[in-house]
Amino acid sequence: MCGIVGYVGGRVATPLLINGLKRLEYRGYDSAGVAVWQPEALVIRKCVGRLSVLEQSLLAQPIAGTLGIGHTRWATHGEPNEVNSHPHTDCHGRIAVVHNGIIENYQELRAELQQQGHTFRSQTDTEVIPHLIEAELAAGAPSPEEAIRRALRRAKGAYALGILFHDQPGTMYAARCGSPLIVGVGPGEHFIASDVPAIVDQVRRVIYLNDGEVVVLRADSVAISRLDGTPVEAMIQAVTIAAEAVERAGFETFMLKEIHEQPRILRHLLARHEWQNGTVAMPDLALGAPYFRKLNRVMVVACGSAYHAGMYGKLLMEHLTSLAVETDLASEFRYRDPKIDPGTLVVAVSQSGETADTLASIRMAKTWGCKVLSICNVPGSTVARESDAVFFTEAGPEIGVAATKSFTAQLMAFALLSVFIGRARNEVGEAQAQELLVALRTVPDAIHYMLDRSADIRKLADKHHDGPSSLYLGRRFNYPTALEGALKNKEISYQHAEGYAAGEMKHGPIALINEYLPVICICTQTRDEVYAKMVSNMKEVEARHGRIIALATDGDVGMPQLTEDIIWVPPGRDEFSPLVNVVALQLLAYYAAQARGTDIDKPRNLAKSVTVE
Ligand code: F6R
Repeated sequence: MCGIVGYVGGRVATPLLINGLKRLEYRGYDSAGVAVWQPEALVIRKCVGRLSVLEQSLLAQPIAGTLGIGHTRWATHGEPNEVNSHPHTDCHGRIAVVHNGIIENYQELRAELQQQGHTFRSQTDTEVIPHLIEAELAAGAPSPEEAIRRALRRAKGAYALGILFHDQPGTMYAARCGSPLIVGVGPGEHFIASDVPAIVDQVRRVIYLNDGEVVVLRADSVAISRLDGTPVEAMIQAVTIAAEAVERAGFETFMLKEIHEQPRILRHLLARHEWQNGTVAMPDLALGAPYFRKLNRVMVVACGSAYHAGMYGKLLMEHLTSLAVETDLASEFRYRDPKIDPGTLVVAVSQSGETADTLASIRMAKTWGCKVLSICNVPGSTVARESDAVFFTEAGPEIGVAATKSFTAQLMAFALLSVFIGRARNEVGEAQAQELLVALRTVPDAIHYMLDRSADIRKLADKHHDGPSSLYLGRRFNYPTALEGALKNKEISYQHAEGYAAGEMKHGPIALINEYLPVICICTQTRDEVYAKMVSNMKEVEARHGRIIALATDGDVGMPQLTEDIIWVPPGRDEFSPLVNVVALQLLAYYAAQARGTDIDKPRNLAKSVTVE
């Protein structure tokens, strides 16, 4: 989704804006632009395509000035072209605005403003904002900030905004409602940004703005108010991530770096949740054992990969506790009529903590009196702030658009929470819990082992990447793994891929199988009753000449009789096999994408943080 960076201070603005926007590239975009205050005018430069095009344009014809706003646009209203790119201005080019979000009532506002004589140039929803502010000033608003507040009281939808006025030198304005925006605080300078990584190399202190807040920033002052004008005290917090965390560290892509970070992250999570007083420790969880003892039901809501993690969470929680657990897509959950009461815990899973549908689901759950526990990767994010309790996955910034390390960290979070809840309810005995923890501790090494087999996985990707489609099959704990493997493949290699519960194959997808279709079969749950069923499904694929790629456990002597294309996985407990298996599938997708020559870190059309519905 769109990215925003703004600067006011003593340094030349445009290099800082470009530097920050580059660090937001992972959010996805199709055009970019900046506005810089100059004595004679607000100077605007926009380009379609990669940020490097804008950067080159600014190098060729620099814009001096120490106050500016920048934007990367991910088109929603109006095609990606220069006119629709941000910043947008009022009729006279005296107010410039960058926006992330959607103004839902823009059509009626636009019609009203056009009737008053305002001229619109773009097809965007955003353009109503500078015109509304212009109209409020013309109608007598006593200050630019009051004009912004009045304008925003009329706007419905989601926004993070950066605003400049030509008659306000040295002053940057910003506002937030529903879309993320932070203020970076440095000596004699301030930034605004959609996300901490954008400015992590510039400042070590930030303010997380809340919904409905407007901020006026000068080089040495910050003034925050609510939309009704009430002043708000600025809460400055230290940045917890290191600048190096958003560098590639010698890897060819962020995604590959993030895949390789997984053993370290999982080890760290295990260390944070060590064995203590007869259970796994939950040092930061605001909900304790007494709450979980009284709980009747759990509802997990999430989108995309986080939803697949939630599906795994359901299976594991049901396996280890007597709780009734359901998982739903947040975008569906929010529009159905779930029968939820205050005895239900809503678990929201979100890497970014800003996903619009997940947030909406949390807000609905709170109106029903439910407690919300989020599994989230970004401290200070809206999901984290609006939840009653947070399990932080502590995977560090994830820059590659396709989720990898955040996903395995979510699986680990569910594993640790399931043991904790099982212990709290006395449904998991102490010895069993210890056994589970011992098994979990083998996972980081098992992932290392997978990473060491990258060259073998690459050979399989090279052999099978060229077809139009592929099918991923798994059962029980590895059904979500199959869905996640297929999602990774389609996201980054653009090969159509479908994940299926293997038992469903006969109910439709079997019609697809022929000698050209790669069928990735996850068959590692050797102690589970579904193992034999999975083998039968593979035989059915073999009988129809499908190209089987098997994930099998080291020592499974039967497997080479079914296929020569095997990714060997070290033995481990069936319940935790998805944490290892998914790494193999991440690598398979990665090398397929490489063979197909796609832009792996920034796949087309995708946005890292889906802040609109
Ligand atoms: C897939 C992916 C997306 C996200 C989804 C939810 O690789 O990254 O499917 O999982 O957009 O995002 P978060 O977890 O930020 O709520």
